[in-house]
Amino acid sequence: MIQKPRGTRDFLPDEMEARRNTETKMREAVRRWGYREVCTPEFEDLELFTLRSGEGIMQEMYVFEDKGGRKLALRPEITAAVIRMYINEAKVAPKPLRWCYFADCFRYERPQKGRYRQFWQFGAELIGADTAIADAEVIMLAADALNATGVTWDLKVGHLAFMKNLLKDLESSAQRRVMAHLDKKDFEGLKATLADMSKADLGESLTALVECRTLGEAFEIAGMIPEKERVEQMTGILDASGVTYSLNFGIARGLDYYTGMVFEGFAHNLGAENQIVGGGAYRLAHLFGGDDVASSGFAIGFDRVMVSLGDVQPKKNTIVGIVCTNEGRTFALSVARAFRAEGIRAEMDLMERGLGAQMAHASKSADFAVVIGGREAEAGQVTLKNLHSGEQKTLSPAVAIAEVKAHGAR
Ligand code: HAM
Repeated sequence: MIQKPRGTRDFLPDEMEARRNTETKMREAVRRWGYREVCTPEFEDLELFTLRSGEGIMQEMYVFEDKGGRKLALRPEITAAVIRMYINEAKVAPKPLRWCYFADCFRYERPQKGRYRQFWQFGAELIGADTAIADAEVIMLAADALNATGVTWDLKVGHLAFMKNLLKDLESSAQRRVMAHLDKKDFEGLKATLADMSKADLGESLTALVECRTLGEAFEIAGMIPEKERVEQMTGILDASGVTYSLNFGIARGLDYYTGMVFEGFAHNLGAENQIVGGGAYRLAHLFGGDDVASSGFAIGFDRVMVSLGDVQPKKNTIVGIVCTNEGRTFALSVARAFRAEGIRAEMDLMERGLGAQMAHASKSADFAVVIGGREAEAGQVTLKNLHSGEQKTLSPAVAIAEVKAHGAR
């Protein structure tokens, strides 16, 4: 028996219904902020992701060569692709651009609960705004989208300027090595790397920065940074907006393109893979041949949100089973059409079963049976049976539709 590839999943109808419900809540949340959906290709030139995504992602990429000898990669994330699209298609559009996406990504990681090789991100990118209020908008937007789903989670907000100020005497490759340790909270590795660089003295300040939780302390540890006013403005906006968050200046983010504000969110009820959102301010466009436009954004790990929400039963729509005899079939087809035209799910027998067997099947799978024999067809009527209460009446199709509608969702 052929199995699905490791790290991928199949989704049965109940699960898909629950996923779509949650997706719809997120879509609705970002729509209210003016974010409009975009879509990019599932695979891109490998170079798009190798230019600035960082070591971690490069090792996890699905890379292949097509028949024309082009080096391609399945997208490990969407941000780089969205910025490529911006340069290709929308460079001259009025700024800022507010875009969102819901799409699958591929990373060759060791699969476990909440970590997959194919997973879905719900994300947004704000292109062309470089202000404190833009930083705050992206964080508030992520909070709105996640809160709309009902997950319980913690939001941590930071800014790379503090860490970068402490590391300013290091070369950028050395900075990245240090930040990679901080991103993974690998303090032992950090110590060894700093010792290697003869910078052991930095260890204490970095650890203090990671542990501090107020702006005042962070300024004390990292020294004055040019972004001071912007960071203060951003936190001021967040405080006034009522978003619940804590400051965390140890957030380094795994991807290399971030330049300023960074944030992450963690679900309360997940284990090791509890990060459900990550984002920040970044610059990528200039690397892909565009202008040096400032952007910010985030991606929510949709599958982790679903794991966190658990087995919520999707709200089921009312189901009508159309039960008919051979003589009633033509009329029954038109009645089924009328139910569907009113948005009601109506299912007909496809197995050439007798009336009794159709009825037995309907009582297992539907809320109502609409019974149409020769007599009903001739009179232009249907027998509507409520399969939960057993109550049954003979009515015109229009009245039967109204009764089913009044019943509402199960
Ligand atoms: P990221 O932190 O690499 O950021 O991924 C975003 C989220 O995707 C993570 O927080 C996590 O919830 C989810 N995720 C990552 N890998 C997996 C996996 N293997 N299985 C399940 N879920 C996973 C980005 O991708 C950036 N592009 C976010 C961004 C947008 N920054 C600016 N704009």
